[in-house]
Amino acid sequence: MLQKVVRSTIIDAPIERVWAVLRDFNSHDQWHSAVDTSRIEGNERSDQVGCVRSFTLKDGNRIREQLLTLDDTEHKSTYCIVEATLPLQRYVATVSLKPVTDGNRTFWHWASSFATPPGMERELHDRVAQGVYEAGFEDLRRHLLQGGDRQSRNGAAAMPTALPAPTRRIAITRYGGPEELRPQDGEAPPPREGEVRIQQRAIGVNFIDVYLRRGWIPPMLPVSAGSPGVPGMEAAGGVLDVGPHVSGFLPGDRVAYLGHTPGAYCSVRSVPAEWVVRLPAAVEDDAAAALLLKGITADYLLHDLGRVQHGTRLLVHAAAGGVGLLVCNWARRLGAVVIGTVSSEQKARVAREYGCEHVIVTRDYRFADTVQRICGGADVVIDGLGDAAREENLAALARRGHWISLGQASGPLKALPPDALVAKSLSFSRPVVFDYVSTQAQLAERAQRVWDALADGTIKMPPIERFSLEAAAQAHTRLESRATTGALVLVP
Ligand SMILES: NC(=O)c1ccc[n+]([C@@H]2O[C@H](COP(=O)([O-])OP(=O)(O)OC[C@H]3O[C@@H](n4cnc5c(N)ncnc54)[C@H](OP(=O)(O)O)[C@@H]3O)[C@@H](O)[C@H]2O)c1
Repeated sequence: MLQKVVRSTIIDAPIERVWAVLRDFNSHDQWHSAVDTSRIEGNERSDQVGCVRSFTLKDGNRIREQLLTLDDTEHKSTYCIVEATLPLQRYVATVSLKPVTDGNRTFWHWASSFATPPGMERELHDRVAQGVYEAGFEDLRRHLLQGGDRQSRNGAAAMPTALPAPTRRIAITRYGGPEELRPQDGEAPPPREGEVRIQQRAIGVNFIDVYLRRGWIPPMLPVSAGSPGVPGMEAAGGVLDVGPHVSGFLPGDRVAYLGHTPGAYCSVRSVPAEWVVRLPAAVEDDAAAALLLKGITADYLLHDLGRVQHGTRLLVHAAAGGVGLLVCNWARRLGAVVIGTVSSEQKARVAREYGCEHVIVTRDYRFADTVQRICGGADVVIDGLGDAAREENLAALARRGHWISLGQASGPLKALPPDALVAKSLSFSRPVVFDYVSTQAQLAERAQRVWDALADGTIKMPPIERFSLEAAAQAHTRLESRATTGALVLVP
């Protein structure tokens, strides 16, 4: 009678990383404590179906096994024993992996059937179940934890973790206009512990990059002639390599990141792994760079801070801008009454296409009377304009309205005395996106909401204006000219 042995476990590593080890039919001597030596016979590749591996076990037994199937899509392989000094007869085994859906973990299922000589059933069953499978689970866990899969057979690093990579970056040595943004060559050091080094393919341009360049937030981007500062808060690209104690990312993974320390205007960069999310296949690099920071901003503004719902009277400034279009789109889906300000008729057309029901065209920040006329005052104002719109915002708000001041494209907002709010019981918020993605889990969850919203049509992709990385200064000039609609992306 055939015996069956089935064991399974969860490995705390993404499926690609576990599979990269297990699909190599000749890898066991590197991680399985029962295996002494392993070689593939006849110089065949270790992923060639039909190849035979020859094991010597630590206890002196020898086993020859043949690879029967290998499926990289299903993450599954089968093999059988063709000859062994152990009395395992008609032994056929299957290894299969599945991703665990709530994180970067892997479900590993290992099963076999075989016959044994009478009287040896129990002994051989336990030997396979515990000595091979359960020990293998623990051994592979340890192997991955120690980064053993990142070492080549002769002990050298398999990936270029030790070398700096050349990078082209855009830096400023003093605060000022767009002309201060100058390309320079540099080196991206190898990723340190907890870091991921990324070959960037698209970099998101945000208005905060302009504030940093102008010197409005010096602690965030300190610069001097001897110590240039590199703006940029987000980018997308491919993982080059990872530092120690990083799980969840492998070289070649398509990723995007968002973080509170500038430095994204470059071609290669190492960033903390908590800033990074893997990209779904449907989201292209430039779409990710255009959407990650701005989409997450729209999400927290509408759902967390503004609590926008059906019937909310929402005033959105710069409604045709990067954040503005996403906010209009998403808010309309929530059933809000969306009123937007823009500075040109062309922008008004685009804002309408993205769900802005009432568009006010104004270049000089006059909108309060029209808002009052349209809806009797705004429940929520999403304001990236800053000082020039200050009095009009107060006048445009409805009783118990909420002024969300998220930016200051027109100039820094002067201090607001609490008494300015009391006349209509107003509330005032000054949020920053980075506080809404302060853990990897929050970032992953919010990014997923943005990708889902894009996939199900809740938001549509805003127009993207692309500039080469070298032309970052032109991108800034254009953003500041108030001529852009949608998002700007730099391409290294
Ligand atoms: N706090 C956060 O978490 C957070 C996150 C992301 C963005 N933001 C803020 O949200 C706002 C929008 O950001 P964005 O990156 O999507 O930029 P954007 O809206 O694409 O561009 C800025 C827009 O602001 C308007 N504007 C009005 N006066 C301006 C002036 N004097 N100079 C330049 N622009 C002026 C322009 O639209 P019109 O010409 O149509 O008026 C311009 O297109 C910015 O204030 C930004 O700082 C904040």
